[in-house]
Amino acid sequence: MSLTDVDGAFEAVTESVDEVRRWLWWAQGPLDEDSYHDFVRAQSEKFVNDVEWRYYVIDRFDNHLVGGGSINPAHSTDTQSASVGYWIRTSCTKRQFATQAASLLTDAAFTYLTEIAEVEISMDVANVASARIPAKLGFSLRGEFDRAIRAPGHTGRGFIWSLSRAAWRGPQESGTSSSLTQPRTLSDS
Ligand SMILES: CC(C)(COP(=O)(O)OP(=O)(O)OC[C@H]1O[C@@H](n2cnc3c(N)ncnc32)[C@H](O)[C@@H]1OP(=O)(O)O)[C@@H](O)C(=O)NCCC(=O)NCCS
Repeated sequence: MSLTDVDGAFEAVTESVDEVRRWLWWAQGPLDEDSYHDFVRAQSEKFVNDVEWRYYVIDRFDNHLVGGGSINPAHSTDTQSASVGYWIRTSCTKRQFATQAASLLTDAAFTYLTEIAEVEISMDVANVASARIPAKLGFSLRGEFDRAIRAPGHTGRGFIWSLSRAAWRGPQESGTSSSLTQPRTLSDS
């Protein structure tokens, strides 16, 4: 995530404020242009320092910014793993963008984080749309767990889904209409 696309991203977040505020920790608090720039700058630094990796999701047919996604080191199991997250702007939901983004992020995690044995996707138990996504990608439901309440839609209980490297079918490139922006540093912005 870099400042290059920040205006489009801010527009996407503000358009989707009700949905993202309901579920995502980073959308709590003031959502003005300055604070969003600060957030993107902080995340860009984490990206270049390999702490966690956030991306914009772009519709490759018209270059429209449709959402965002992330890969983070996961700490829920003893196994070396990474977790994948996503959000899609409200005007572009129910068009499989989140499913495709999660698939691309899973491929990237297994390809570039060679030490990980599995990828996880977790969400609050009340986030029915989000829970459809790992199910469609062949992840297995590992179970339910207690989870911090960090957004108004959270119940305090979450699902964890996981996909092992052995079960991963390799990069699924064909047929996707979305892409992740290439990693860029702040100096490119
Ligand atoms: C959840 C979210 C990422 C889904 O994005 P999306 O691009 O619409 O997802 P997809 O189109 O790939 O798939 C969504 C699936 O959920 C289903 N769905 C969507 N809204 C739903 C709802 N309110 N109830 C039940 N299912 C729902 C869709 O029908 C689809 O399933 P299907 O393909 O079996 O029909 C998007 O709504 C969003 O960004 N929400 C706010 C942020 C968020 O919750 N992020 C995830 C945090 S864990």
